[in-house]
Amino acid sequence: MLKKPWGGRFKKDTHQIAERFSASVDFDRRLYKEDIQGSVAHVTMLAEKGIILKSEAEKITKGLKQIEKEIESGKFSFREEFEDIHLNIEKRLIEKIGAIGGKIHTARSRNDQIALDMRLYLRREINEITLLLKDIAGSLVGLAEKNIDTVMPLYTHLQRGQPVLLSHHLMGLYEMLKRDRERYIDCLERVNVMPLGAGAGAGTTFPIDREYVAKLLGFPKVTQNSIDTVSDRDFIVEFISVSANLMMHLSRVSEEFVLWSTKEFDFIDLGDEFTTGSSIMPQKRNPDMAELIRGKTGRVYGNLVAILTIMKGLPFSYNRDMQEDKEPMFDTADTVKSSLEVLSAMLKNITFKHENMEKALTEGFITATDIADYLTRKGMPFRKSHEVTGRIVGYAEEKGRELVKLHISEYKMFSRLFEKDLFGHITLEGSVGGRKSYGGTARRNVLRMIAQGKKETGKW
Ligand code: ARG
Repeated sequence: MLKKPWGGRFKKDTHQIAERFSASVDFDRRLYKEDIQGSVAHVTMLAEKGIILKSEAEKITKGLKQIEKEIESGKFSFREEFEDIHLNIEKRLIEKIGAIGGKIHTARSRNDQIALDMRLYLRREINEITLLLKDIAGSLVGLAEKNIDTVMPLYTHLQRGQPVLLSHHLMGLYEMLKRDRERYIDCLERVNVMPLGAGAGAGTTFPIDREYVAKLLGFPKVTQNSIDTVSDRDFIVEFISVSANLMMHLSRVSEEFVLWSTKEFDFIDLGDEFTTGSSIMPQKRNPDMAELIRGKTGRVYGNLVAILTIMKGLPFSYNRDMQEDKEPMFDTADTVKSSLEVLSAMLKNITFKHENMEKALTEGFITATDIADYLTRKGMPFRKSHEVTGRIVGYAEEKGRELVKLHISEYKMFSRLFEKDLFGHITLEGSVGGRKSYGGTARRNVLRMIAQGKKETGKW
């Protein structure tokens, strides 16, 4: 008899080159815990339904638990000739408890087994990711509260636009990550479905109880169609896609941190622990962690393209191509988690340079919109107010003076509508405080966002 568990009808061994090419145990060994967890539930159900004996199930379960310990203590030797994690564990089980171990694969195929392992794995990863997101969201809310009154420029086109509260900006990042969290939770809905019992794709002749297995493993529901079950990898596509979106956001935050830590902006200090020096330029402090988050975003996009491409030409149902789904999935989860971890730590270390942020507001006629709004409130059509204000800005620029420094008589040269009360609107406080529209930058609005953020994250 040949060594392969499926070798019955073969006369020759697999060629070494083919064996090396097709083995996945090098990377799918990461699923050992899920594989064992799934097998224990499966044999428990088999015994419950009288398909195998209770004593056999107990023996198998005990053997599997020992194997788990062997793997965890590094004593287990993974063998390429047994292809994947499933057969490695099964082979070892038979070695340990004898032929009875072979009953583990009753009413099961590796096609539904791998689907189960990956769903169990992703479920845990998504939970860990959402906890990291909760931590970061909490930090953002905390930072917003701490820096509630700091004013900074709102940038559009990376040009200074209008004064806003830093806390408003931070709560904007919070909203962004909140949507990512919602996407993960939604994705979990489709990950968290129990596939075992689909067999190779047609179901099984044994009187199994899939609902019972689902209950044992904490799945709220079972998959509906056995063919679809073994050919579906949407849940991985979705996970990577949601992750790509999150990484895009983390990359944007990182890019901002990179910019803000330059001498040109000088808005933040990331601290010694999260920056590095240059091996040649002694004065330098580089924002490498932020740069790496930005860079790692590329890997996750790559993983998304990989999984979509792997799946696109596959006929129903399982095809071996699908073995290629694991590395993009692992790499995505690893990259997302490590990026979130480092961002979380960075946020606990960051200091905002309030004075520099405010200094950036003293040049650039940042309250010009408020002048236009003033004229508009006095009855001038906004388009006209915009034009008049534009001419005032041109005048101020020529004179080399800021808008608050112009005299009321100078304003009156441009429009008779100007009165002294204008100056209450074009200071930073006046400008920020005036933006009371829902979601706008007025302090009271931002305080509401902070309160809501606290309430929401409390439930995450
Ligand atoms: N290693 C395989 C995979 O990851 C497990 C399923 C294999 N099924 C099979 N019939 N060869 O897809």
